Amino acid sequence: MAYTVPTLTDYSTAALERASAELFSALGEEASAVKNEADWKVFRDRWMARKNGVLTQINDLWLKTAPKEAKRETGARVNEIKGKVEARVMLAKDHYENVAALRNVAKTRGLYPVDIRPSDSVDISLPGIRRPIGAEHPVVKTTNEIVRVFQKLGYSVAEGPVVETDYYNFESLNFPPNHPARDTQDTLFIAGQQAKAQRERLLLRTHTSPVQIRTMEKMRPPLRIVIPGTVHRNDPPDASHSPMFHQIEGLAVDTNITFGDLKGTLDHAMKEFFGSSVKTSFRPSFFPFTEPSAEMYVSCFICGGSGRRGSDPCRPCKQTGWIEILGCGMVDPNVFEFVKDNGYDPRKVSGFAFGMGADRIALLKYGVDDIQLFFQGDVRFLRQWA
Ligand code: DAH
Repeated sequence: MAYTVPTLTDYSTAALERASAELFSALGEEASAVKNEADWKVFRDRWMARKNGVLTQINDLWLKTAPKEAKRETGARVNEIKGKVEARVMLAKDHYENVAALRNVAKTRGLYPVDIRPSDSVDISLPGIRRPIGAEHPVVKTTNEIVRVFQKLGYSVAEGPVVETDYYNFESLNFPPNHPARDTQDTLFIAGQQAKAQRERLLLRTHTSPVQIRTMEKMRPPLRIVIPGTVHRNDPPDASHSPMFHQIEGLAVDTNITFGDLKGTLDHAMKEFFGSSVKTSFRPSFFPFTEPSAEMYVSCFICGGSGRRGSDPCRPCKQTGWIEILGCGMVDPNVFEFVKDNGYDPRKVSGFAFGMGADRIALLKYGVDDIQLFFQGDVRFLRQWA
């Protein structure tokens, strides 16, 4: 006899348990009777139709009429039932589709006849439920591609913690306490740290640069590393800002590393990544941990450096023909002082460093106009990289 949703008078836990068990057993029975699309549609509508489907009925007959003190528990039950019914309806579709597919395979290949029984027990002759294979996230893909360029040059990959101390994020990178350059970093601090010495206070790292120091503490020179990772800043989210984003840092230390090495390495890396026709340009800048410091621009790979796209202005480069890609510079001797005892005597070694935003590069590369799309997990967006 077909299941009908009973009215509830008793709302005790035991009564709710009994009522849902009855419902689940009917659900299982009806699901396993689904053999084709027509059956499935009837099954789906019977359980899920807005108008008078079983889910609507339990909402009306169980939840709406529940006495105040039982509302919460009944609500939780109804939600659980809703989830299970929805899952079972989807599964029933997979099941008959898979059975049909398997029959077809057996038929077209002239294989042994497969006995396909509709049953609630596990039928190991059935193919599994199809789960679509995910795609690499565009930011991960961009990061991997950039890291790969440096690996081919002999760089290793280093990583470090996202929750960092003031010492590694600032002090050892030559941002002394109260230095105004700290203000540019919009730092998110962990609450309740006032009792600790400043250098031990925890924060969310604002850049991947602290991993420079962490790695130099562990490994003696010469050193060539790239450091991909997540960073945080107190920026309200908008089309070009996100409080969480990604950077790729680089560090090379050896005897006699010069600014020429920096330029040659980064120029080569950009040509590998964006294509051999891009040009690079270095403009003076300031970072506390490098001296001299520069910002590197690449000729706009969207308009080819002309600043125009046909008769329209090129937006990504703001008609300048150049796009800012990263910050870089020669490691400041004050930074080496913090790791001097591990072989980094600033009179003996020199080095260059650089840091870039992976999300921004992915935005530019794929022509995405809103960084938020990277973090919303919308499959319709992410599927484009499948
Ligand atoms: N850490 C800097 C930032 O997030 C970026 C940067 C600039 C990294 C210059 C470097 C560098 O290694 O040399 O703003």
